[in-house]
Amino acid sequence: MEIIVTTDYEEMSDRAAEIVIAEIRAKPNLVLGLATGSTPEGLYARLVKAHREQGLDFSRLTTFNLDEYVGLAPDHEQSYRYFMNRHLFDHINIRKDNTHLPDGLARDLGRYCRRYEQMIREAGGIDLQVLGIGRDGHLGFNEPGTSLASRTQLVALAPETIEDNSRFFRSKDQVPRFAITMGIQSILEARRCLLLASGASKATALKGCIEGPITSMLTASALQLHPNAVVIADEAAASKLERLDYYRWVQEARSEIAHRL
Ligand code: F6R
Repeated sequence: MEIIVTTDYEEMSDRAAEIVIAEIRAKPNLVLGLATGSTPEGLYARLVKAHREQGLDFSRLTTFNLDEYVGLAPDHEQSYRYFMNRHLFDHINIRKDNTHLPDGLARDLGRYCRRYEQMIREAGGIDLQVLGIGRDGHLGFNEPGTSLASRTQLVALAPETIEDNSRFFRSKDQVPRFAITMGIQSILEARRCLLLASGASKATALKGCIEGPITSMLTASALQLHPNAVVIADEAAASKLERLDYYRWVQEARSEIAHRL
């Protein structure tokens, strides 16, 4: 794992944008995996800016989002499709039919989940997967106890996640109880993973992800098995890492030989 510690959220978003923009420039038909939530909002704002000010071209990009609530229509203000349109897709030159989120209204959910996996495979697999981390260490909606071999599936949200996400709804009762999420195994198949973490509320989960044992009790820990995972965390999120000085030291060392990497 490459671990980059930044002073704050803004710098975390800058560094993440540099990575995503470089990948899009290197491969204009990139297959990009995306996440919703507060964490990647700064990254998406920077991608929109790069499109407007530098003409960053999204016309050949394909995207797949990690997850979607079951039962919310795409035009529901709290659906993840709505979020993606509002924060990114409506402001860049991507073809909407190249943007994919699980269909929370699908009738046969089991069959639909298999179809989503197939769509990813048909697109050639995900090149770069953007990830956030839940307070309980989840990736996507892969809550504690989910198999690390899981694939896209229907899941019941954990009470902590319902609580966390209720800030976006009028009341906790309105938060959907179910979601479709890419599984941990599906995420690990991305060629590169980019995990973003910001704020003290993520510090314990991030420590488990990077330094804890690999366990289904903290599904983000499975990233330790990924050969090309980058974590960008601000100081508050990184505050519980035991090897923080070492990660900083490695970053400095890397910058010395960056021209040869
Ligand atoms: C959202 C997702 C979730 C979030 C996580 C962190 O698509 O996959 O795993 O990344 O819950 O959410 P925020 O960024 O709101 O703290």
